[in-house]
Amino acid sequence: MPSRPRIVVTRAIPEPGLDLLRRHAAVWVNPEDRPLTRDELLTQAATAHGVMGLLTDRIDAGFFEAAPLLRGYANYAVGYDNIDVPEATRRGLPVSNTPDVLTLATAELAFGLLLAAARQIVAADAVMRSGNWPGWGPLQFIGTQLTGRTLGIFGPGRIGLALARLSRGFDMPIVACGGRKPNDTLVRELGARYLPFEDFLATADVIAITAPLTPQTRHAFDAAAFARMKPTAILVNTGRGPIIDEAALVTALAHGQIAAAGLDVYEFEPRMAEGLAALKNVVITPHIGSATRTARDGMAVLAAQNLLAMLDGTTPPTCLNP
Ligand code: DGY
Repeated sequence: MPSRPRIVVTRAIPEPGLDLLRRHAAVWVNPEDRPLTRDELLTQAATAHGVMGLLTDRIDAGFFEAAPLLRGYANYAVGYDNIDVPEATRRGLPVSNTPDVLTLATAELAFGLLLAAARQIVAADAVMRSGNWPGWGPLQFIGTQLTGRTLGIFGPGRIGLALARLSRGFDMPIVACGGRKPNDTLVRELGARYLPFEDFLATADVIAITAPLTPQTRHAFDAAAFARMKPTAILVNTGRGPIIDEAALVTALAHGQIAAAGLDVYEFEPRMAEGLAALKNVVITPHIGSATRTARDGMAVLAAQNLLAMLDGTTPPTCLNP
């Protein structure tokens, strides 16, 4: 490898990460504020020793094939459904993600969406801005009091645990379902009860999806799931969009099968299912779970540390290969 390896960063990330990389490598950063096209990604990868990419970059056999000099790939995200990890491992290439540094940011946004959906904060804000508020009224914007409601966490890992901790001030009993393995801390510290999916759906007053996207979680929340949920239930998703069948969610929200939703992720980003944006009982944000200064800088530094370790031939701090 040359003394200054070539690193490709597929979209500008915060400076602390770029600074770190530039101390050790010649760094090419996508100059445009958009994802690289597949062709652009493969062209850049052809001469790269290391690549740092986004959840929108498909890191699969075709990518690895196009990158003969590659020593490793670092995802600028905790979710890694965009990476074919077994394929990377088969080729002896390390790949990594950015856990922990965005846990609190994402949990805080999930709780924010929950409050916003429960109390119709966005719709109420819109009325104020419209200049059409007629003054206080006993029947206006009646929402759900969260305190004491049962919080269901689907796919509890680090983010689900952080969310459960945030909910302590609201005295919410916790039920859980899914996840790679039962989260002992969630059970011991917060008294969470693990339930089978059907019971979980029927028991929770509010459900927060914090699961990764896997073949098992894809469309876990479909028409049948909404039919099992309480008509007063609120659903929040800060995991990955395809965990929800979004067209079925639009139907469920429109027909009052569930009460409300707060979404930060979508099945076909950046598009939304037809009809979703017209619904009053949904709060929608543009995939900003990790969008705090602290989290995004932390992700940049961790992803850079991962990539530099790969170039050095040492194990990256948050390696995904088994
Ligand atoms: C992730 O990290 O997986 C988020 O979706 C983006 O920060």
